[in-house]
Amino acid sequence: MLKRFDDLVPASVRGGRAPPRRSVKAPGSTMFFGGDYNPEQWDETVWKEDDALMRLARVNLATVGVFSWSLLEPEEGRYDFAWLDAHLDRLHANGVAADLATPTASPPPWFTLAHPDAMPVKEDGVRHIHGSRDTYCLAAPAYRSAARDIATALAERYGRHPAVAMWHVHNEYATLCWCDHTAEAFREWLQERHGSLEVLNEAWGTAFWSQRYGRWEQVLPPRATNWHRNPGQHLDFRRFWSDLVLTAFREQRDAIRAHSDRPVTTNMMLPGYQNLDLWALGREVDVVAIDHYPDAPGLDAAADTAFAADRARSFAGGRPWLLMEQGASTVYDGDRILGKEPGEILRHTIGHIARGSEGALFFQWRQSRAGSETWHSAMLPHAGADSRIFREVRAVGEAVERLGEVAGSTVTAQVAVLHDSDAWWALEVDGLPSKELDYLGSLRRTHRALWDAGITADFAHPSHDLSPYRLVVAPALFLLSDAGAENLRGYVAGGGTLLVQHFTGVVDDRLHARLGGYPALPLREALGIRVEEPRPLRYGERIVLSDGVQATVWSESLQLRGAEAVATYTHGMLAGKPALTRHRFGAGEGWYLSTRLDDPGYAALITRLAGGTSRVAGVETVTRGAWRFVLNHTTAAVRLPEPAFDLLTGDLAEELPAGGCAVLRKEP
Ligand code: GAL
Repeated sequence: MLKRFDDLVPASVRGGRAPPRRSVKAPGSTMFFGGDYNPEQWDETVWKEDDALMRLARVNLATVGVFSWSLLEPEEGRYDFAWLDAHLDRLHANGVAADLATPTASPPPWFTLAHPDAMPVKEDGVRHIHGSRDTYCLAAPAYRSAARDIATALAERYGRHPAVAMWHVHNEYATLCWCDHTAEAFREWLQERHGSLEVLNEAWGTAFWSQRYGRWEQVLPPRATNWHRNPGQHLDFRRFWSDLVLTAFREQRDAIRAHSDRPVTTNMMLPGYQNLDLWALGREVDVVAIDHYPDAPGLDAAADTAFAADRARSFAGGRPWLLMEQGASTVYDGDRILGKEPGEILRHTIGHIARGSEGALFFQWRQSRAGSETWHSAMLPHAGADSRIFREVRAVGEAVERLGEVAGSTVTAQVAVLHDSDAWWALEVDGLPSKELDYLGSLRRTHRALWDAGITADFAHPSHDLSPYRLVVAPALFLLSDAGAENLRGYVAGGGTLLVQHFTGVVDDRLHARLGGYPALPLREALGIRVEEPRPLRYGERIVLSDGVQATVWSESLQLRGAEAVATYTHGMLAGKPALTRHRFGAGEGWYLSTRLDDPGYAALITRLAGGTSRVAGVETVTRGAWRFVLNHTTAAVRLPEPAFDLLTGDLAEELPAGGCAVLRKEP
């Protein structure tokens, strides 16, 4: 059991001045296990039961206070910490460390009524009000100073509290706003970025559709308008908002750091939220923390777990990270919340830890009996401790406890998928040639093909050093800066294999189309091709390539400029023209795929380029440090290639039961 902060943070961080990066864990110590704990919903009898059941479940970390603003500050400037003091002392006495949150994702009603101008305004001008959560505008001065004040008050009181292991700023920064405060802050950001109105007019292409701005006051956030929104305005607004979130986060983080030497984080919502540049956020936090809720059951949920975990590890720059929230039995499937199957809580947990998480936390410890999240699952369900879910949670807690020696170790990948928030936001603009260009879907698909082939992948930004990777895939870089294109060219010249997919490198970082043929010139050289004309396909239209592989969504007219055609089109005006190409360039190879292959065809291409293993379908293997994690997602037992010591059982393992997991020591 973790008893003290010292168990969580290396000696170098304790006392004195903290180094810029505070680690959450000394290598080779303990994994975190626990969840959001909202005791303010319950009474003393329940708290006593919580203590006992947390011990049973081996909980050692609880996120406290995420939504407690209205209790912590019942009136402006009047704080009530007595109840939180009692809970922190109780947790501490029970061996549970606190991940203490600032409650700023849910301002209390008094705040709304005192500062109506700090409530978020939607694109269509509707102003939201309290009654839910996430009702605030990050650009509103009143909100920002109230957030700083409560963060400071908490840090002053609990900065050195022995229960507090780390700080959790806010919750899933996600609210966007289009109000007048936002407009003002947006203009300041634009002035900083563009320098003058002339440059902004040029960047946004305002010479068209009579959009030219003559004065800064005329420039607005992209509010609801009649027809296509200006694409440059949309992209700059997204960039601005991301910077605003980072500024707001830094204000709270620094207010905390002034009084506390404990690591500070905030939880990213993966994989779907894209309101900020997660690479940039990864550089600001002491530890990357993510929330993950799969959006489909079964094998898709397992693949989605790997997708989120690999992104988290990448945003953390290869450092260990932490799964801050998962659902004990929650799969968000469209318009319903499905349950997890027996064994899945363990497999999802081990799936995250295999890919670098320092443990696993849940939302939340005890299922609410009232309020807005009554039906969201919890470690301890409405049914109580005598329930399948709690029995599984206990077993998972025991399993996580056995993985202590894995803590602090890292995962190395040899394949990278390129991921850039600018490119994501760019694909959201109005007026693109097809609505089937799906950024997240493309990323997921590439990752899934790699996952199915048994290959662990990192994500990387187009500006990163890509030389450690033998294969880099660019599934959806519609926007690619000049520097990014140069970097990719250098990667291929230096010996890498690069697969670029359709409609990549088509616009620069101002969303201006590349002239004279796509993609950007350095990439054309590396790929040995020139794309002349995009030819989107109709919804549901299927085409067949010369090698028999089927494709949908997109096609392109392209010319070979040194590359060879690996497959050609067979339909219409493109018949006989290249569809998939390969180019030897410098010491490497540039591949270009100008259409969207169907799943088997795409899987075969990815496996060929990545040199995939012939893994048994549904059996996932990941190497972390000196351990090989094996997850059997199938309904049959699987024999291991050779017997190995399994950390989870403390015994030799020869086979994995249906749905089972093992953490095997690589060396005997
Ligand atoms: C998360 C959020 C939690 C809780 C959970 C339920 O996104 O951070 O507060 O709402 O979802 O799924």
